[in-house]
Amino acid sequence: MTDNDIPWEDLAAAARTAMAKAYVPYSTYPVGAAALLDDGRIISGCNVENASYGLTLCAECALVSALAMSGGGRIRAFSCVDGEGNTLMPCGRCRQLLYEFRAPDMVLMTVSGIRTMDEVLPDAFGPQHLA
Ligand code: THU
Repeated sequence: MTDNDIPWEDLAAAARTAMAKAYVPYSTYPVGAAALLDDGRIISGCNVENASYGLTLCAECALVSALAMSGGGRIRAFSCVDGEGNTLMPCGRCRQLLYEFRAPDMVLMTVSGIRTMDEVLPDAFGPQHLA
């Protein structure tokens, strides 16, 4: 699949559906994330907050958990939206979460267009450093 074949609208729609399920009583800032896996599946996740604020789980946490629980795989493309359904940048920690499960040619929809993983997390620390 070339970058041009990535179903960005389907990914954004899945991210918006996930966003609608967010549990955000504290920030009232819902987030939805969706990923196209290298086997063609689309997975998603929403943010889940906690009365102990620092325990908040970003939408990407749910997404990588869904990835593991549904049999694993690699992320070919990623999209994240805010409560208005607009593209949102994954936070720094979540870029690291995504990096762990990236396909070699992974791309992200960002506020500045389609970016590679290396562009949003240059010189990343990763599993290769622990080998
Ligand atoms: N949030 C995410 O779910 N993902 C991100 O990449 C950025 C931030 C959530 C965490 C918290 O529930 C809310 O947005 C406000 O920070």
